[in-house]
Amino acid sequence: MEYRYLTQDILEKIENYKAKFPLKEQAIIPSLHEILEKYRDIPEKAVEELSDYLSVPLAEIEGIVSFYDMFRYKKNARNHIRICRNLPCHLARYQNILKMIKEKTGADVGKNSPDGKWYIELVECIGSCGIAPAFLINNDLYDGSKIKTEEDIEEILSRYE
Ligand code: FES
Repeated sequence: MEYRYLTQDILEKIENYKAKFPLKEQAIIPSLHEILEKYRDIPEKAVEELSDYLSVPLAEIEGIVSFYDMFRYKKNARNHIRICRNLPCHLARYQNILKMIKEKTGADVGKNSPDGKWYIELVECIGSCGIAPAFLINNDLYDGSKIKTEEDIEEILSRYE
């Protein structure tokens, strides 16, 4: 198998984990952390590659990914939208932002848009309560209080076309 997500630096770290632990299964979680750190999510393809590399059944790694909230599949969409749903953002009506984003992208919470460009996730506080409702598109932080119309959302989304 050709590895696209398990880059040389990740493979080196996985090798260290394999050497450190008596069972190869014990290398799964630290390896997933390495993938998470590099990609900020767990791409499905990376899980397949890890399964191949460690010779551990795919279902076993998938089970770990779905069990722990910290390991989330990106579903391979090109852009990942994270909308905070905690109290300050709730009071600032994050639902309005979510509704507009859903309408404009065709994606839904936990689901890719049909064109594969967008994935929406509701997340816990992203440390930006001062600009509630706050959301991220990939690594870019947005102040939802400045978004008043659908055109405002369209303009932001167009930056990622
Ligand atoms: S509660 Fe939404 S950013 Fe903190």
